[in-house]
Amino acid sequence: MIEKPHGEIMKDYYCAIDIGSSLCHVLVGRPQADGSVEVIGVGTAPSRGVRTGSIVNIEATIQAIAEAAREAELMSGLVVEEACVNITGKHLHGGNSRGVVAITNKDRVVQHADVLRVIEGAQNIRIPGDQEVIHVLSREFAVDDQKGIKDPIGMTGIRLEAEVHIVSASITALTNLNKSVMGAGIQVTGGVMSSLASGEAVLTEGEKELGVAVIDIGGGISDVVIYVEGGVFYSAVVPLGGIHITQDLSIGLKVPVEIAEVVKKNYGSARVAIVDPTERIELPGMSGRASRQVLRQEVAEIIEPRVQEILQLVDSELVRSGKKGFLAGGVVLTGGTAHLEGIEETAEDVLALTVAARSPLGVEGFVDRVSGPEFATGVGMLHYQSRLADSPEVIESRPTVGVVSKIKNWIAENL
Ligand SMILES: Nc1ncnc2c1ncn2[C@@H]1O[C@H](COP(=O)(O)OP(=O)(O)OP(=O)(O)O)[C@@H](O)[C@H]1O
Ligand SMILES: [Mg+2]
Repeated sequence: MIEKPHGEIMKDYYCAIDIGSSLCHVLVGRPQADGSVEVIGVGTAPSRGVRTGSIVNIEATIQAIAEAAREAELMSGLVVEEACVNITGKHLHGGNSRGVVAITNKDRVVQHADVLRVIEGAQNIRIPGDQEVIHVLSREFAVDDQKGIKDPIGMTGIRLEAEVHIVSASITALTNLNKSVMGAGIQVTGGVMSSLASGEAVLTEGEKELGVAVIDIGGGISDVVIYVEGGVFYSAVVPLGGIHITQDLSIGLKVPVEIAEVVKKNYGSARVAIVDPTERIELPGMSGRASRQVLRQEVAEIIEPRVQEILQLVDSELVRSGKKGFLAGGVVLTGGTAHLEGIEETAEDVLALTVAARSPLGVEGFVDRVSGPEFATGVGMLHYQSRLADSPEVIESRPTVGVVSKIKNWIAENL
């Protein structure tokens, strides 16, 4: 357990912990009346206990969370007592389901209880015994023959239907998450699928209505979510990210991973065609040898195929969703790898869709500290928490037990 410093106890604030394969971010934010969030504390620490989005070393993850939380506490002057945490990894499974119930009260007006019942009913799908449902995201409702209803409460009819997207996660992975956050002396108030959180941060409601895909390309994993008609239709993860690009550079340029990472960030490009063919960069010499020069184009020639591979795997997911042809809002790229020069152009080629890289929207306060695409998941969790608290009558998600229990309790108490 980590000793907490003295400070004001959090009340009207939310805290988000984004445990990534590269970095761990802790964000403290205060929701604003206009729907934006004022970021008042940010802490970042290298994350050494996470591989492909999943925790493989609890002690190292506790250290990363504690270090990032300490920085966020110092900056905000608050003690981080509880927080929402991101959930990602190959263990996630997303699928669609439908629930149907009779509207039974005597005037046949849909009430909160009916909405809860229909969503509960939609959860009656078979999930493996080692998995737990983390999200039941309602996309739309139908009352009798009237379809496409976002909020059915108050409508009259005899039959209520709900279309939902259900996400489940490995119980072991959730337990490890819980242990890691608790080990840093922080209570878990809820868990949010990383891609859902990133979507909250980088999309407008209009884009969700139009149909849009978010691809969060991080260090070890790329999280994908597809929205159609305002709600989540598909979610998936691709187990590749920026770390794999760095490893390719390390092998291709025969330099240590640390140098490959610097080369990637400072001179990397995901598009050979836009790099000046005469531009050279200096690589430091290894084991007493002199430094040497390489063409920047050679660096791009290593990066581009790996970026294409990641995007081809993402494209397979878009095709599998059956909704690739419905993405009028295009694709929004986020996550640290979205910084890479030329990635939008290469993504447009591979996906044959309009692509834009984007950083979190709707931020105030320490805007500069969270202005990169790598903050999408963290900022999105702040937005997500305040949205859940603000609109109890709209059921966004009804997580079940374990790492997400507190949000459930909150919803149960407020509906
Ligand atoms: N300027 C940059 N150019 C290219 N790549 C970058 C740049 N800045 C960061 N990255 C890469 O982004 C990746 C980290 O992104 P991010 O912080 O979103 O990942 P993460 O959340 O820690 O991991 P994950 O979500 O995959 O578990 C690293 O591979 C890093 O090299
Ligand atoms: Mg991430």
